[in-house]
Amino acid sequence: MGVLDRFRLDGRVALVTGGSKGLGEAMALGLAEAGAKVVITSRHADECEETAQRIIDATGGDILALEGDVTDKGEVEANVAETLDRFGQLDILVNNAGTNVRTGTIDLPLEDWQRIVDVNLTGPFICAQACLPHMVEQRYGRIINLSSIFGAVGFPSRSPYTATKGGLLNMTRAWALEFANDGITVNAICPGPFDTPMNRPLRDDPVAYQTFVSKIPMGRWGDLEELSSVAVFLASEASSYVTGSALFVDGGWTAQ
Ligand SMILES: NC(=O)c1ccc[n+]([C@@H]2O[C@H](COP(=O)([O-])OP(=O)(O)OC[C@H]3O[C@@H](n4cnc5c(N)ncnc54)[C@H](OP(=O)(O)O)[C@@H]3O)[C@@H](O)[C@H]2O)c1
Repeated sequence: MGVLDRFRLDGRVALVTGGSKGLGEAMALGLAEAGAKVVITSRHADECEETAQRIIDATGGDILALEGDVTDKGEVEANVAETLDRFGQLDILVNNAGTNVRTGTIDLPLEDWQRIVDVNLTGPFICAQACLPHMVEQRYGRIINLSSIFGAVGFPSRSPYTATKGGLLNMTRAWALEFANDGITVNAICPGPFDTPMNRPLRDDPVAYQTFVSKIPMGRWGDLEELSSVAVFLASEASSYVTGSALFVDGGWTAQ
């Protein structure tokens, strides 16, 4: 197999949570371009359908849109079952669905803390728990967790976000060890800032935008393709000896 063939995903099936927009949509598109059949989920079926159609139009791929909240174990299990029903296998889980709140610690309502823990930390656990038995049985799997630069370095007024992304990063390492002999790799992507719906408030605030840019040695936010190509690498045979790793896609933010 030539080196570029090792990046191909023909015959593989991927589930991308939060695949309706932002980084999730970009990664779903990238995985489909590489040949994978892709299932995208979010809490809004209509948005998933629209995104699936955009990816089908762009790639001609086999894309399934399913509604589901990653914090709801029953919905996640139903979506995994439907994926297996439709495609017969599930090889790649991208734990991408996530949320954020930008409030100081003293003023943060406990409900907000709990919601972010539920979506960013418990959600990936529920999704992995639903997918892993199948991956173990087929002795093949790729799990990609969307952590963040803020899983490794701090930032003010981001208590639950930094805590959950740090937790997800270390859970990545625990899973990598637990499933190292099952043909399953588990890795994290730690993005710096990208222009997605989550980051619109930062992008549209000149002061906040400049604060972020000033921390990036490359002097700019990332382009979505610069993230999706990393996801394809971690989803493919090209990364077969990479597990328990964190790939920082941050223009150098955390290198300082
Ligand atoms: N953008 C960045 O610069 C950046 C940087 C570092 C890390 N990240 C991480 O990358 C991931 C994607 O970020 P993004 O910027 O693309 O976010 P986004 O634009 O806000 O999109 C989030 C996606 O997750 C879905 N989602 C949210 N809560 C969900 C839930 N409970 N169950 C199922 N789906 C849910 C959303 O759809 P619905 O709301 O319709 O459910 C949407 O599809 C997140 O984990 C984020 O923390 C992003």
